[in-house]
Order: sequence, then C-alpha cells, then structure tokens
Amino acid sequence: HRHLLGIEPLRPDEITTILDLSDQYVDFNRRRDKHANALAGLTQINMFFENSTRTQASFELAGKRLGADVMNMAMQASSIKKGETLIDTAMTLNAMHPDLLVVRHPHSGAVDLLAQKVNCAVLNAGDGRHEHPTQALLDALTIRRAKGRLHRLSIAICGDIAHSRVARSNLLLLHKMENRIRLIGPPTLMPSGIDAFGVEVFDDMREGLKDVDVVMMLRLQKERMDGGFIPSEREYYHRYGLDAEKLSHAKPDAIVMHPGPMNRGVEIDGTLADDINRSVIQDQVEMGVAVRMAAMDLLARNLRARPTEVMT
Ligand code: CP
Repeated sequence: HRHLLGIEPLRPDEITTILDLSDQYVDFNRRRDKHANALAGLTQINMFFENSTRTQASFELAGKRLGADVMNMAMQASSIKKGETLIDTAMTLNAMHPDLLVVRHPHSGAVDLLAQKVNCAVLNAGDGRHEHPTQALLDALTIRRAKGRLHRLSIAICGDIAHSRVARSNLLLLHKMENRIRLIGPPTLMPSGIDAFGVEVFDDMREGLKDVDVVMMLRLQKERMDGGFIPSEREYYHRYGLDAEKLSHAKPDAIVMHPGPMNRGVEIDGTLADDINRSVIQDQVEMGVAVRMAAMDLLARNLRARPTEVMT
C-alpha cells in the first residue's frame, strides 16, 4: 500500500505483518537507546486539524526514534486561519517534498481526498467519524499480547458507537480477524443498519457483557452531537458506564480498554480504569508508539522501492 488511510483495504495477513513488526518495536522502545534509522533521510510532517494527545505525541516519537526529520505543523497558527483550504495547505507542504504526511481532520473523507493530491505517503490519524486505523491496530496489538491470540474472541465495544471512528476501525479489523463482536449502547448512539454487519447489538450492559473476553469502552463524543440528543452524564453513567459490578458479567479474566481521552465517571469508573489487574489502557498507549513505528517503517520501505517521483 502507498498510504494508510483505513483498515478497510487491509487483508488479514497484512494486519498480522504490521502487528508482528510492532511487537519488535515494543521491545525496541523498552531499551535505553531508542535510535534506529528506518526513516533516516525522510521528512515527516504531522498535520493535526483536531486536538490530540496520544496520536500526535506517539507519531512524533515514532518518527524521531526511527530517524526521520519530523515537523509538527501548528495548524491553529497556520494560514488555514486566513482562509486557505485544506487542499491548498496540503499542496503547499507537498511542494517542500515531505515523504510522510500524518493527518487528523474533523471531516470524514478529508484525509482520503488529501492523499489523492499529494505525492507522498499519507497516514490517517483520524478523520471525522470515518476511520482511525492506527488506533485499531494498537488495540489489536494490545488484545493479541494480553490474550495470546486475535481470533475467536468475544469482544464488546460499548458506548457512543455512532460518532466513533475508533469503533468503526476496530469493527472492521476485529471482523476481518474472525472475532465475535457485540456492540452495546443506547439506541440513539447506535448507527442504523449496523446489525447487518454480523454483530450483535445490545442496549443493556449486563446482558451484552456476558462472558466477553474484551470490554472496549468509548468516549461520549459530545462535540459530534451537533444539535442531536445529548444524554445526561449521570444517567449515561448509571446505564452504560463501566464499573466493577457491570464488569463482573464478563469473563473473570476479561480486559478493559479505552482509547482515551476518557471521561472518568461518565463512561468508566476511575478506579477501574486505574486497576492494572483489569485495565490495559496504559498498555494501549505504549502499543501506540510501536504500531506507528511499524506503519511508517513499512510505508517507507514501499517508498524507497519506488523511483523518485518528479512533481508536476
Ligand atoms: N485515542 C486517541 O486518538 O487519542 P488522542 O485524541 O489524544 O490522539
């Protein structure tokens, strides 16, 4: 592949290849000396049009640890504020010959559109409610390391499914790897027609969590509920917030995940989120750096195998 725009075009064996390389980078990142040169000589530009802590920091660290020249565009201070369009901004940066563009944008499809206009590799760091492929890959790596496999697991994705690119990318990946997927949440936050995807849909947490291996919580994304129904936080926590009692319906060794940023006391109990016997939330963050290193390493191998393109 030339870009990493989503999980949708990836085959199961390609997902496994990325995860196998990511495992090597997990070991690498635990060393004192964390310098390699897989991206040496390449320029990586990070363009985040939406806020980020985990994704931006881990893409920056991943690029630096692999020897790339990394630039973080401060989009709030860019000429976007003067009315320059996304595509004109991308074309301007493209003229500076980057090799890797990492892009987060609030509109679904914006990153795909941008990838058609530039002649470098583009990585989707989250576009609207469409896809967040490196999040699904880091979640998959976390599950595979915790459970010893990434197939035939029973996995519950819980909460605000409708607005979640994390849910969409995870659903695509976990389905490709032949897992049993349950979606749990209020009907108002469930996309219509989702059960046609081969998933089971529940609006009761205790029923939906019964005997699952993995519990994946999602953030309530109020910023995407433009004018629609916004549940009260207290009511939401009561019915859909994960606490020890609701978790007791899952398998005794079920792991608890959350992509972050989390709202403690809204979708998850803070004590449970911090319980290292159940929660793998910090492991997810660690896997994030390794997965982004693997994704950029593989795209760079592909870039280097192609003749240098002349801009037109
Ligand atoms: N999980 C995730 O994408 O977090 P950030 O928004 O902090 O990058």
